[in-house]
Amino acid sequence: MKIDAAKVMELVRTVKPLFLDHEQAARIEVKGLADFVTQVDFKVQEMIQDGLMQLYPDIQFMGEEKDNSDIDFTGPVWILDPVDGTTNLIHDYRNSALSLAFCDNRQLELGIIYQPYTDEMFHAVRGGGAWLNGRPIHVSRVDTMERSLIAIGTSPYDHGLADRNFRDFKEVFLRCSDIRRNGSAALELAHVACGRTDAYFEQVLRPWDFAAGMLLVQEAGGTVTDYDGEPLDVSTPCQVAAANGLIGEELLAILGK
Ligand code: IPD
Ligand code: CA
Ligand code: CA
Repeated sequence: MKIDAAKVMELVRTVKPLFLDHEQAARIEVKGLADFVTQVDFKVQEMIQDGLMQLYPDIQFMGEEKDNSDIDFTGPVWILDPVDGTTNLIHDYRNSALSLAFCDNRQLELGIIYQPYTDEMFHAVRGGGAWLNGRPIHVSRVDTMERSLIAIGTSPYDHGLADRNFRDFKEVFLRCSDIRRNGSAALELAHVACGRTDAYFEQVLRPWDFAAGMLLVQEAGGTVTDYDGEPLDVSTPCQVAAANGLIGEELLAILGK
């Protein structure tokens, strides 16, 4: 199925005022341990779902804030995280993004990540490269762990993973220049894709967290696998290790232990 990426990005841009609406961001519900959702999340999802329905009525829609049990991944599916970085949104940390992917029979075809605070629109088309505001992007060329800047994700909704996480963070920290944690998995992947960081890893991410970013990193020349170097399945939660391709093996040697 052919998708008009420019049209979809035009739709995505319309959510900006919603991200900047402090009143709606302060209307918070608890989903689980350390896990919140705001009216902004719901409104962004509704706006994108309605818009995509009008453009492509036959494509299924998976969104973080809805029940997705009926999605058939052998067919075409949109995968949306309306607000990736809700904790940041609640704290006005200004580091949240919309993440939207399109896949067909589990193959990613299009990935879009939009950062409304900086107006940065990242997108990638399978076989067509990765772009930031219309300019081609590439992963970094840093080729040693010692010189690398590595982003970590804490999987904040599963404290059972904390021991393993903090062991990995220490191992990686002792071998690289420094580590970063920005609170949005989608933006972390976008930053690997455009070379701001050299790698990023997180123990559990859901399809809407990583689908668009995975295609961005791959189309920008990097690699995305689980901690054992195995390919990811966009229909299920996954371990995610993304890297520039030059330090990927060294990183996996630490994480795969
Ligand atoms: C979360 C963010 C966070 C990451 C979590 C995600 P949410 O998404 O991407 O950075 O550490 O694993 O679940 O809940 O803000 O959409
Ligand atoms: Ca998310
Ligand atoms: Ca979210």
